[in-house]
Amino acid sequence: MWLGIDVGTGGSRALLVDERGGVRAGYTALHEDMQMARPQWAEQRPGNWWDAVVEAIRGVLAKAGVSGAAVKGIGLSGQMHGLVILDEAHQVIRPSLIWCDQRSQAQVDFVNARIGRENVLRFTANPVLTGFTLPKLLWVRDNEPANFERVRQMLLPKDYVRFRLTGEFATEVSDASGTSVFDVVNRRWSYPMMDGLGLDRAILPRCYESSEVTGAITAEVAALTGLKAGTPVVGGGGDQAASAVGNGIVEEGIVSCTLGTSGVVFAHMEKVAYDPAGRVHTFCHAVRDKWHVMGVTQGAGLSLQWFRNQLAPGVEYDALTEEAAQSPAGAQGLFWLPYLMGERTPHLDATIRGGWVGLTARNTRADLIRAVIEGVSYSQRDCLDIIEALGVAVSDVRASGGGAKSAFWRGLLAGILNKRVVTLETQEGSAYGAALLALAGQYGSVPEMCRVAIRETDAVTPDAAEAAYYAKAHRVYQSMYPALKPICAEVAGL
Ligand code: XUL
Repeated sequence: MWLGIDVGTGGSRALLVDERGGVRAGYTALHEDMQMARPQWAEQRPGNWWDAVVEAIRGVLAKAGVSGAAVKGIGLSGQMHGLVILDEAHQVIRPSLIWCDQRSQAQVDFVNARIGRENVLRFTANPVLTGFTLPKLLWVRDNEPANFERVRQMLLPKDYVRFRLTGEFATEVSDASGTSVFDVVNRRWSYPMMDGLGLDRAILPRCYESSEVTGAITAEVAALTGLKAGTPVVGGGGDQAASAVGNGIVEEGIVSCTLGTSGVVFAHMEKVAYDPAGRVHTFCHAVRDKWHVMGVTQGAGLSLQWFRNQLAPGVEYDALTEEAAQSPAGAQGLFWLPYLMGERTPHLDATIRGGWVGLTARNTRADLIRAVIEGVSYSQRDCLDIIEALGVAVSDVRASGGGAKSAFWRGLLAGILNKRVVTLETQEGSAYGAALLALAGQYGSVPEMCRVAIRETDAVTPDAAEAAYYAKAHRVYQSMYPALKPICAEVAGL
């Protein structure tokens, strides 16, 4: 059996698969809520991820009724872009600034001024963004110099867990791509970025391809978890690349749409290409010598989660989507702008704020929910449009993540994307992809393994009239951001 471990935002999941990629058992241990001391800040404790991973490993072995000796290999995936910093004694220096933390605009401006925007694109294939790892490290340098002085290692979230599992400081190309100090075209750390900013190269972990072995389970971890000492741990992938492997997005033509906390449209690329405006990310794929492009909606599932927490506490998500289905397409003229944590694609704007536009006294709660789901889906359409404009052919969209569990949301997505939306037999997302990356060694290549493991089950074809309506409404949605932008600046100045 092979084990995938995903260090997500909400929790860590361990998943066991057999040699044909069939799922044997899964176990999720929840994380503490992220701490948001200020509106754009988001932090989690790496020690909490580790505790959750240990619980998830023990839990999945118990659930499957197998001993750790049955596990032949382990793959890791995780939330990307987070900053974990360790001191001389390998202790965590401060809580992690995670992927959706947006506090580092001043540091982004500094990098652009010091290195030059064009050079950043040339060195890393992407613009530097507030969510990426580098400006978070620079934020610590600027605001917490005593903490910065102590930094000896910089790790991504799943790679901190790798360190605890194996004692190795290592990462892999897909997650490293989201740090702003990685040369995505040549698949290696970007020393011009590190040197140009006066950062010590020695804090970077060793970087591998995603299905390469990076270390093995230590005796101490074996005693703690029930795994066998010496079990190999492969690189794995950032959660999006791993999830794409789990969705079979390892060849051109099919893209995925993953509706988790964030929403991601993801396409495989044989040859590296990037958007000159940097609105979508070009990163290394978890497939050797391939790349991928992805557009990200910051507040996808997060929008619905926020709605539920604030306005419908205790109501199940299924009940919310059923309620939304009572509202007609277009939610009676109501729109939702999903900018709860700023926006990445297509605006790259950390300061934009969200909200409903078009409320009247006639609107119901069903309209509010439907508008939220439509707004998130319009944002995903923005992502898809940019990816297609890069010359990536798209026939079908494979939907996954919590949002895609809802048949209602999948139908609505088919209309808004105007594509056939397909679901897969195994909907295990990143943990599944991580397990498949560990298993890939048995098959020779990741695509060969995906051909064996992945099967389509259900498909929704867009309704032509609904798609035509949504195309018009999408243009209205797109006109709202430029109107809102100056207002948000005024709000921030109050
Ligand atoms: C990808 C991204 C998210 C996070 C959290 O760029 O920010 O996928 O990794 O899921």
